Amino acid sequence: MTEKPTVAFAKFAAPKKGSVILLAPEGCNLGQTAAVADPAGVLPKVFAAAEFKGKLASTVEVLAPQGTTYDRLAVVGLGKLDALSEQAWAQIGGAVAAAAKNAADVTVIVDVAGTEPSARDIANIGLGILLRAYVFDKYKTRKDDNGTKAKDKKFTIQCADPNAAKKAFAEASAVAEGVYLARDLVNEPSNVLGPVEFAARAKELEALGVKVDILTEKEMRRLGMGALLGVAQGSVRPPRLVVMQWNGGKSKHKPVAFVGKGVVFDTGGISIKPAASMEDMKGDMAGAAAVIGLMHALAARKAKANVVGIMGLVENMPDGNAQRPGDIVTSMSGQTIEIINTDAEGRLVLADALWYCKEQFQPQFMVNLATLTGAIIVALGNTHAGLFSNDDTLSERLAAAGAATGEKVWRMPLGSEYDKLIDTKNADMKNTGGRSAGSITAAQFLKRFVDDTPWAHLDVAGTAMGSPSSEINQSWASGFGVRLLDRLVADHYEG
Ligand code: BES
Ligand code: MN
Ligand code: ZN
Repeated sequence: MTEKPTVAFAKFAAPKKGSVILLAPEGCNLGQTAAVADPAGVLPKVFAAAEFKGKLASTVEVLAPQGTTYDRLAVVGLGKLDALSEQAWAQIGGAVAAAAKNAADVTVIVDVAGTEPSARDIANIGLGILLRAYVFDKYKTRKDDNGTKAKDKKFTIQCADPNAAKKAFAEASAVAEGVYLARDLVNEPSNVLGPVEFAARAKELEALGVKVDILTEKEMRRLGMGALLGVAQGSVRPPRLVVMQWNGGKSKHKPVAFVGKGVVFDTGGISIKPAASMEDMKGDMAGAAAVIGLMHALAARKAKANVVGIMGLVENMPDGNAQRPGDIVTSMSGQTIEIINTDAEGRLVLADALWYCKEQFQPQFMVNLATLTGAIIVALGNTHAGLFSNDDTLSERLAAAGAATGEKVWRMPLGSEYDKLIDTKNADMKNTGGRSAGSITAAQFLKRFVDDTPWAHLDVAGTAMGSPSSEINQSWASGFGVRLLDRLVADHYEG
């Protein structure tokens, strides 16, 4: 996994070297130590000249500040202190990491006249620093392409209660590791990451106390997973179904379950995709990456919850043994599916993964994540994931977790009018529903494999990869879903 920078916490003290970053609320009312960091008193003039007002995540920089021994003084705006969400604190952290540029030694001073951010707020600054510092550069061999490596950077956050901040940050750091893992896997090219290699990455979670079982093709055949196996049969690389279990809760509590689409590469199969941007389909396993990232986060912070994570790992290729349009496959549920378009493969993988999950674990709920449809990008762009659900409570909880973390979801409709669009005369259903409402008919398809289990489907095709750069993410892969679902678990399913 890409290594994180170091984030440490300390009491207020006048800084001596490196880069110094002050946080200033709207109005720029700094506390005493913050004032000491600017002995020559240049800041008021700098603020005026730069028209810096302390707006959320805005930045101003002073090089070689007068009367000091350090290289750089930067100020990052906090915005209005009474209105800051978890996401806003992380954005501030992101702006801090950006303001630090290539500096290896950075002192961050959180001293605001008259107000004391909570330990959790400070921890979220640390989270934002980690998320912003992530870079995927393992295949860049020329040194001059890269600045200071993330792992060689050290941020020391000065605040009123460093011990409390350190404790709160331990949890945030576990979540950041989960996001790093998800981003690494999505960024990784498919020649390196096939289903077998992906499953091996899951096995590494055993070091954190996660139970990991890997089902091979033979075992899936025995279980009757004809939908998943039909997708896999066009690739020389065999599929895997990974079952991860974290049992941190009371033994009598039924688990909650997360299921991810893990298509390591999606050519479309025989219904082959056009060449333009096909390389992006290395990220068609982002749902599975979010699930493994979430399991890492939960285990690393020892969440008091019982959680199952399942990943359906396949490659969708068009070789001589590939499935054809018109083929009819039998899923593990016994329901038959007519393949109309081999590019609608994610739902086939999830059909068997969801059914298996429900039969094996009878979970309190199932949430699946999938880069399922291009149509969700048309509908919602890159800022909200599509949320489809048969359960209002689960939907509301996901929406609240989205608002808190900034990994936003938007609920879309389901209904019998949409459901009948996937009926066919040749089998129980077909795998596409025509041009209209493509994301909804995909969700209706999944719904046929969950029975009465409370369930939500997150279509992350627009949010897990290719989103515009943000304060907390500069990488192609965002790791979308890890923070959202960690918050869902933390707020409702622990203890
Ligand atoms: N993996 C794609 C969806 C996708 C598209 C994800 C663009 C990210 C970016 C999925 O398997 C797919 O091909 N869906 C088809 C479904 C259609 C054939 C019914 C689509 O969206 O075009
Ligand atoms: Mn496809
Ligand atoms: Zn796909």
